[in-house]
Amino acid sequence: MVALYPGPIEVGGIRLRNHLLLAAGILGTTGASLARILANGAGGVVTKSIGPSPKEGHPGPCLVVVDGGIINAMGLPNPSAAFVEELAALQSEPVIVSIFGGTPEEFRTVAGWFAGKASGLELNLSCPHAEGYGAAIGSDPALVEECTRAVASLGVPTWVKLTPNVANIAEIGAAAERGGADAIVAINTVKAMRISTALRRPVLGNRFGGLSGKAIFPVAVRCVYDLYEACSIPIVGCGGISTADNVVEMMMAGASAVEIGSAVVDDIGIFAAIVNDLYNPDGIDADEIVGCAHA
Ligand SMILES: Cc1cc2nc3c(=O)[nH]c(=O)nc-3n(C[C@H](O)[C@H](O)[C@H](O)COP(=O)(O)O)c2cc1C
Repeated sequence: MVALYPGPIEVGGIRLRNHLLLAAGILGTTGASLARILANGAGGVVTKSIGPSPKEGHPGPCLVVVDGGIINAMGLPNPSAAFVEELAALQSEPVIVSIFGGTPEEFRTVAGWFAGKASGLELNLSCPHAEGYGAAIGSDPALVEECTRAVASLGVPTWVKLTPNVANIAEIGAAAERGGADAIVAINTVKAMRISTALRRPVLGNRFGGLSGKAIFPVAVRCVYDLYEACSIPIVGCGGISTADNVVEMMMAGASAVEIGSAVVDDIGIFAAIVNDLYNPDGIDADEIVGCAHA
């Protein structure tokens, strides 16, 4: 396997300690848990998605473990503006705040709370199970462009996270780029459901949710590959990554960095383990492999 040269990097206007970030919504609900993930080897962390008003989320069950992954329908529970206080102790750390809203104005309002208090913002335009939010916006190129512009015009590094649940993800990535995004994150979860044969009803309280984990890795690689052909801003790969070889494969598809979610649920030591396998002082520069599978 290819080994990379270790050290800090810059992606989409944000300086990171290495190429591995914590994905949104996984252990990112308090300042203390974000600090813990950084101490465990992550190069940067993304928070739980924060919206314009406090939200309790969907009724349970919110999560079901399936072969090769997890289906969740959390429904974007979050404390809204109160979350700003959680970041007080993390001012100089590589923390990216994930935000959501129902309109470009709401995105801009939430972004304004965190401008100057975080390294950057990640727009959640991709949650598959929150009506009026997330993928409902992220499937419409015009709305993606507008929401991105509303936040990017604040001058804060702006990443846009896309849904794979569209016919043409490259078209949505191009819209984010036109709106002024500094990077694209791909992907959020894949719309999915399970039915309990004993109960004769859907397992999740919300009936359907989003599939994450190893099962979606090939979907994520394909999305990153498509986006690399259509966009010229950096891409952050996300979806099913659990090994250093997965990171290298994502980079060969076109990713400049990666986010890891479900694998952290299984193993809090996943960042340190991947760092150990991925980096070597004799390693090559990541630029040598980013997008090399397109040649
Ligand atoms: C329990 C859970 C909660 C999540 N919450 C969010 C969220 O708040 N915002 C968001 O953009 N993505 C959220 N995601 C999606 C992840 O950030 C990530 O895109 C997805 O899980 C795919 O990566 P993975 O296969 O490494 O987990 C969540 C995923 C899970 C499993």
